[in-house]
Amino acid sequence: MKINSITLENYRNIKELSVDFDDVNIIWGENAQGKTNLLEAIYLFSGAKSFRGAKDKELVKFDCDYAKMKLDFFANGREQTAEISIKDRKTVTLNGIKKRSSTELGDEIKTIIFSPDHLNMIKEGPNERRKFIDGALCQIKSNYRTLLKNYSRTLVQRNSLLRNAESVDEVAPMLEVWDVNLANLGAKIIYQRIMYLKAIKPYLKSIFEGISGGKEDIELVYIGADTYTDDVNDIEQRLYNKIKSHRKIDVLNHTTTKGPHRDDIEIMINGRSVKSFGSQGQQRSSVLALKLAEASLLREMTGENPIALLDDVMSELDEKRQDYILNHIKDLQIFITCCDKETVLRLKKGKTFHIANGALSEG
Ligand SMILES: Nc1ncnc2c1ncn2[C@@H]1O[C@H](COP(=O)(O)OP(=O)(O)O)[C@@H](O)[C@H]1O
Ligand SMILES: [Mg+2]
Repeated sequence: MKINSITLENYRNIKELSVDFDDVNIIWGENAQGKTNLLEAIYLFSGAKSFRGAKDKELVKFDCDYAKMKLDFFANGREQTAEISIKDRKTVTLNGIKKRSSTELGDEIKTIIFSPDHLNMIKEGPNERRKFIDGALCQIKSNYRTLLKNYSRTLVQRNSLLRNAESVDEVAPMLEVWDVNLANLGAKIIYQRIMYLKAIKPYLKSIFEGISGGKEDIELVYIGADTYTDDVNDIEQRLYNKIKSHRKIDVLNHTTTKGPHRDDIEIMINGRSVKSFGSQGQQRSSVLALKLAEASLLREMTGENPIALLDDVMSELDEKRQDYILNHIKDLQIFITCCDKETVLRLKKGKTFHIANGALSEG
């Protein structure tokens, strides 16, 4: 897919903006000028909530009572238009037809986003890494969200039983029911995640090789309660055994200690953990490579290229790595924000825009 143009009115610090885009687009300017705001506006059209977690009202320019956004794009073989307006409430239309919510735009407009916050995927605990893989799976498998919901409901029920239990013997028959259910649902989640990692691997490796100039090799390893194979029945059996053998510990802790809600994904460069040993640049490169690989897989699964929104991706990357991002990403329309003019000069093909105080000009 491709975004042809966007028009914004009273969006955050952007009073008025109307602009045509190219395949590669750089938006540069000093801090607090509206770079992230512009990416956020594009991102909203993919049906997701603001990646900054903002409420609709906060998107309207201070002292104004409405905001309007319009996107002209090509997707699923035709030119289309989506409009979002926020006044007392949010209204969304696609090709002139009113939609119940912006989530419905997600079928037409797909994006991947890199924001500096996503570095938490490396720096923080496993929660952020699970969020990445679960989010990616939700975009390509329509029943995965339901699976996650059912698993977490079962987990809540098992935990509430554990909270009130004095001994394993007292609750064993009840626990048996939850353990069987939890292992069944959990195994399906683990299976999907393992398959996702398998599918993303060739893309990730080739992108990372490109970013690192062929010097570094990236690897993802699924870390679960047991060593899992890619056989869902085998996973279920192993997970059930683990959950069952931890009943005593779970009763003591009043919580379920084994299952996909506790699993992790280890990211390694040249055989070593990026979290423990990676430089800032390597950490940034690996998150970026993951996001771009997610885009490639999304294309493989849906037949459409998502839009890549890369916010502040350039800092801490050396010239070669920046060059790869600017000039060697194929088949994806990309939007990159950065602060300095030097980066802009290195762009070989594409458009550059300067933004100051919410006003955009080409150059
Ligand atoms: N609803 C709003 N109305 C007007 N200005 C806003 C609104 N929300 C945020 N801003 C302003 O936008 C600026 C930040 O823009 P941002 O896109 O994050 O900057 P950057 O160019 O550094 O990415 C801040 O100065 C902030 O005060
Ligand atoms: Mg910013």
